[in-house]
Amino acid sequence: MTMGEPAPRLADACDAVVVFGITGDLAYKKIFPALHNLAHRGRLGVPVVGVARGDRTEQWLRDHIRSSMSEHADDAHPASVDELEKQLVFVAGDYNDPDTFKRLAEALEGCNRPLFYLAIPPSLFEVVVQHLEAAGLAARGRVVVEKPFGRDLASMRELDNALDGAFGEEDVFRIDHYLGKESVQNLLYFRFANSFLEPLWNRDHVSSVQITMAEGFGVDGRGALYEELGAVRDVVQNHLLQVVSLLSMEPPVSMAPGPLRDERVKVLNAIRQPGRHDLVRGQYVGYTNEPGVAPNSTTETYAALRLCIDSWRWSGVPFLIRTGKHLPVTATEVLATFHRPPQRLFDETLPRDSNHLRFRLGPDRVSIALGVRSKRPGDVQVGRNVELYMSDDEVGTMTAYERLIDDAMDGDPTLFARSDAVAASWTIVDSLLDGRSEEAPELYRPGTWGPSAGDALAADVGGWHEPGPQ
Ligand code: BG6
Repeated sequence: MTMGEPAPRLADACDAVVVFGITGDLAYKKIFPALHNLAHRGRLGVPVVGVARGDRTEQWLRDHIRSSMSEHADDAHPASVDELEKQLVFVAGDYNDPDTFKRLAEALEGCNRPLFYLAIPPSLFEVVVQHLEAAGLAARGRVVVEKPFGRDLASMRELDNALDGAFGEEDVFRIDHYLGKESVQNLLYFRFANSFLEPLWNRDHVSSVQITMAEGFGVDGRGALYEELGAVRDVVQNHLLQVVSLLSMEPPVSMAPGPLRDERVKVLNAIRQPGRHDLVRGQYVGYTNEPGVAPNSTTETYAALRLCIDSWRWSGVPFLIRTGKHLPVTATEVLATFHRPPQRLFDETLPRDSNHLRFRLGPDRVSIALGVRSKRPGDVQVGRNVELYMSDDEVGTMTAYERLIDDAMDGDPTLFARSDAVAASWTIVDSLLDGRSEEAPELYRPGTWGPSAGDALAADVGGWHEPGPQ
């Protein structure tokens, strides 16, 4: 690939990236490949300071980066790997020890605007932020925090308080990597760059909207972390409610961060408080044998839920969401179904979802398909379902983490969750999960579409749509 001139960084851009938790899973799978890609596009060019507890050495970290590249970078370029290594400084130390932050301050000598990436468990945020503040580093920095931001509305507020004071809201970047995905960006673009859709995109024409995020694998060694979360907190509270907000929001007056984020929050606040019958929780058989999982765990690995948006546009249109581990496929798809024609003019019964808009959000491909009826060639007026279809390969485009770290370095908040949006999502999730987390979820066999109660939730819209191969 020939690279053009990299876009210049803004005057106020970050001049160092500090990763807390540099020896962890997130750094290994996502952050190193993203930093490598930034180096390859000429967008890194600043010191990368890794901070971690434990007794790892700098040499260990360098080897670790190389193995991260071979496992997780789509296309590792030796010169960019070298650049990343050259920029790397390692600070090992306890997060409770002020000396760790003294050494961090020394490593940041000469840097005016560091970006602190907290790739650490939320329970450590507060202590790290306090030490950054005490060391005089927070005042001029920006901070990136990972999802889930808290585990309910109350703990989210506590985290906000911990950050507040040390960092202004404009310097807090709450990552939800779905917002950085090419396919999710395209939802926003497709909705507002086409004029044909807007007159149809409402209760008069859309009968239901479904979102399925299916994963054909289990918790993949993340049992201990997943135990704290479950499917609703892991992906519904953040990724899937972000997708709902992009699909259902009103057009913003501009794509500037303020108006765009205002509209996303407004629609989240218009979601009616769900009740216990709006959620089905499931657990795959074998989950309790995963390392780190309690033998009597009640954590859900599957969730199906139904939401209503009380707005002029969406009143009465069910939004159905389903996600799970160990389902038959790995695919995330949105299906908006349109009403059937009002009159039966042809001698055939039309399937309920013959008119639809389908967005494939991944993995690997970004597709959009418009489902229509078309006449079968022949002398009778009978048709078949076909899709007008476009598809782009996501491989080779910017990864979500690359895009988001790049934006955070420039201080662009557009693709990050604002505090009020996170609060609105937790309000929905708190009422969904109210008293439910301790209840035993229904069991389902790996490789199936989850418990039958989940199917029942979508019975009145004709059942769940199953994502196909593309
Ligand atoms: C993460 C969740 O945020 O998103 C995981 O913690 C999930 O459980 C992952 O597998 C899915 O992201 P992607 O980009 O692979 O679809």
